[in-house]
Order: sequence, then structure tokens, then C-alpha cells
Amino acid sequence: MSAVDVPVALLGYGTVGSAVDRLLAENAEDIERATGHRLRVVRALVRDEAKERPHAPAEGVLTTDLARIRDDPSIAVVAEVMGGLEPTGNYVRELLGAGKPVVSANKQLVAREGAALFRAASEAGVQLRFEASVCAAIPVIKVLREALVVSNVHRVVGIVNGTTNFILTEMEGGAGYEEALAEAQRLGYAEADPTEDVSGADAAAKMAILATMAFGSRVTLADVGYEGIEGVTGEHVAAARSMDMVVRLVGQATLAGERLDVRVGPALVDRHHPLAAVEGAFNAVMLQGDAIREITLEGPGAGGMETASAVVADMVSVIGTTGTGFLQNDACWRTLERLPPGEARSPFYVSIRVDDVAGVLAQVALRLAGRGVSVARLVQEQSNGAATLHVVTHEAAERDLRSALDEIADLPETRERPTALPVVSDRGVAGLGWA
Ligand code: NAP
Ligand code: HSE
Repeated sequence: MSAVDVPVALLGYGTVGSAVDRLLAENAEDIERATGHRLRVVRALVRDEAKERPHAPAEGVLTTDLARIRDDPSIAVVAEVMGGLEPTGNYVRELLGAGKPVVSANKQLVAREGAALFRAASEAGVQLRFEASVCAAIPVIKVLREALVVSNVHRVVGIVNGTTNFILTEMEGGAGYEEALAEAQRLGYAEADPTEDVSGADAAAKMAILATMAFGSRVTLADVGYEGIEGVTGEHVAAARSMDMVVRLVGQATLAGERLDVRVGPALVDRHHPLAAVEGAFNAVMLQGDAIREITLEGPGAGGMETASAVVADMVSVIGTTGTGFLQNDACWRTLERLPPGEARSPFYVSIRVDDVAGVLAQVALRLAGRGVSVARLVQEQSNGAATLHVVTHEAAERDLRSALDEIADLPETRERPTALPVVSDRGVAGLGWA
């Protein structure tokens, strides 16, 4: 069979865009052997054509004019790898409106404007794919939309940001927060504005997309409660280690009856839990469903080439299914209620710094008990007349724990606001070890 020459275009020629171009060029024969198609980047939109680039594209490929992509009838598919919301959203809508299939690596755009974009794609009768927007090289969207389409997935738990996982594992090895972040930026893992990574906004957007795909109900970024790793200190990392746990930024999406809860935040993960073994810029997603019980997907979650592999796979899927594709653009078929904030239940790790005086432990225990929060484990650490209480609770409603901690924060013996992180463990908190 002779290869079909397929001209394609990119919006963006940065870390991911240049990697897509290289991957297509360097693996042209493999792609041709597997698909019968030879995808060739003929145009790439950038802000500045004159900028020095580590990997220069072929002569004449770079442009600052969207119309040269939108109005070129030979271009069969466009990969949006420029990031940001505007003008990106408008560009994608223009391309879809002009009948161009689009694949996107932009989790913020898909999580915030997915409904309008999928509508535009459906109206134009073209595909909009977004595998690279979640967990880079891990094909989790394909698995949810195709392999598990009838599996009734009711829980998704994962590590979905490479930059923060890289920082946390570097901190475990003794590195400082700032130096680990700088290294993640140098390696091309971080967003153009790394605040999106460390604040949890990047992971929250990915969890919104995963929850939408898993539960068939639109979840946007505004529905996701999130917290980042800015407040995680070396002391937290050390306390976790002493309890045979590790600190991870964990995303959790849960469907309970007809209500859903999606959140992202730092958590203490039991060393024996699969997520504890996820290190560096790797990601992992655990999918739990009626028929499948549990499936875990793990792999590179950030990086130019890693992400480019998912972008190219989406482009190949578009080319391979155009005209006969069975996937609907929009996976949402119902509207589920959100679980009210504070009702979610979890075991928690709490760190409380108090004066080392008689009776203070009893006061703390009283406040926890008063809100129905039961203590599973407790370790006290002394230094300079102060004591840090490292407490692990049994499962409790977040609202009850926060109320108890508000009261504890008001005790005259409490030196600073207590911190609380959820604990992720398959074997319950009673089985956790203390070093
Ligand atoms: P990047 O290195 O900053 O590249 C962005 C590219 O887009 C640059 O070539 C830039 O042009 C171009 N661009 C930005 N704004 C533009 C505008 N208004 N008009 C025209 N061109 C514009 O970003 P990246 O790391 O490749 O990320 C791109 C997308 O992939 C983002 O949505 C990101 O979330 C997603 N993603 C990244 C990774 C990763 O590991 N890096 C992984 C998964 C998904 P100039 O070159 O002229 O500045
Ligand atoms: N900045 C993102 C991360 C890139 O670190 O996970 C992948 O989406």
C-alpha cells in the first residue's frame, strides 16, 4: 500500500510543538508502516518567527498568521500546543468552524471551555481530541472513552501533575523546593507559568477532564476544590517518612450515588499504596469500576517528547477515523449534583504545634472528640519547650475535622495554625507503621 501524504499544522512550536515536529520526522517510517500515512508539519503558528529555537523547523513552516493554517485546504488536522485561554480558544473555535479537526494538549482550555468547544466540533462535524491534555504519554482518555465505556467507573484517584511529583520526590531526597522547581522548568515539565503546577490548578483541570469522561457529567475547573504544594514543608516530608508514608499531590474524583466530588490536594500516602511508588515526573491514574475492580495506568506525565507521543497518536486517530469515527465529541449524557464542601470523608494526618505543658494533650483530644473525630495514632516530638503532635485520625468528615482544628487553633497553648492532610491507604490507618 502506498503512503498517503498528510499535511498537518501546529499552533505553537515550543517544548511540545517542536517535539511533535521531531517525532513525526524521526519516526515517519514507523508511523507510515503502522498507519499507511505520512504526517508532515507544513505550518506552525508562533508569536515570534525570528526567535532562536533549539530545534528549528523546516524553512517556511513558522508563521504568525492563523489564516495560513485555517484557510489551507490541504491541512488535514491541527494540533493546538500553544497553551493559554485566549487567543487560543478563539483560534480553536475558528479552526473547528472552518472544518479542521483539532487535537489539543491544553487542559485549562478543555476543562474550562470544553462544553462550547465540543459543541462547535459537533456542529462542524469534525473531531476534537485531547489525550495529551491529561498525563502526557499515558493513554488514559482513550482507555476511559473506548476501553472502559461500559465499565461504570465510579472513582478515579491519581497523581496527575509531573512537576509537583518531581518536586516532592526531590524534596524526599533532600533537595530544596526552589531548586527542584527550577530543575522541573529546565527539563520542560512545568507550565509556562509554573504557578499553575504548584498551586494545584493544572492537576485540578486534569481531574475535571477525567471526572467528566469517567462519570459522563460535565465537570469544569470551577467544580474542583484544589490546593497545591506551596504549604508542604521539609518537616511534613520528614513526618510522613517517620510514619512510613510519603507526601504526594493527589487528585480524587468520586461518584457516590448521584453526587460527585472532585478534589486535588497534598496527601500522606501509605508507602505500601501504588501511588507511593510513583516518582519524579511520572503520573499514575487508578480507575475503579463495577466490572473492572481496579486498573492502574502509570507512565511519564510531563515533558516534550512524552506529550508529543500523545499528540501524534491523536492526530493519527483523527486521520484513521475521519468519516467513520464512532466517538461523539461530547461524552456528557447526564448532570450530576456536587457533594457539598466538607461532606467528603477521609482519614487525616494533623500536625499541631503546642506549648509543652500539662493538660494540653487532653485539651486537643477533647476538641477532636467533641466533633466526633477519633484518633488512630499519635506521636509527640519535643523541642525548646514546644511539642509537635503528629496525629493520624480515623475516617472523618472534613467539615468536622476543620471545626475541631479551628477550636484547637484558638487554645492559648497552640503556637501556630494546625495543618491537616488526608491520608491515602488501602489497609486502613491502624496498620500504618511508625519509624
Ligand atoms: P511553550 O514551550 O511555552 O510553547 C508555547 C508555544 O506557543 C510557543 O511556540 C509560542 O510561540 C506559542 N504561542 C504562545 N502564545 C501564542 C500566541 N498568542 N500566538 C501564537 N503563538 C503563541 O509551552 P509547552 O510546554 O510546549 O506547552 C504547550 C501546551 O501543552 C500547554 O497547553 C501545556 O499545558 C501543554 N502540555 C505541556 C506539557 C509539558 O510537559 N510541557 C505536557 C502536557 C501538556 P513562541 O515560540 O514564538 O514564543
Ligand atoms: N506541567 C504539566 C505537569 C505538564 O507538570 O504535569 C503535563 O500536563
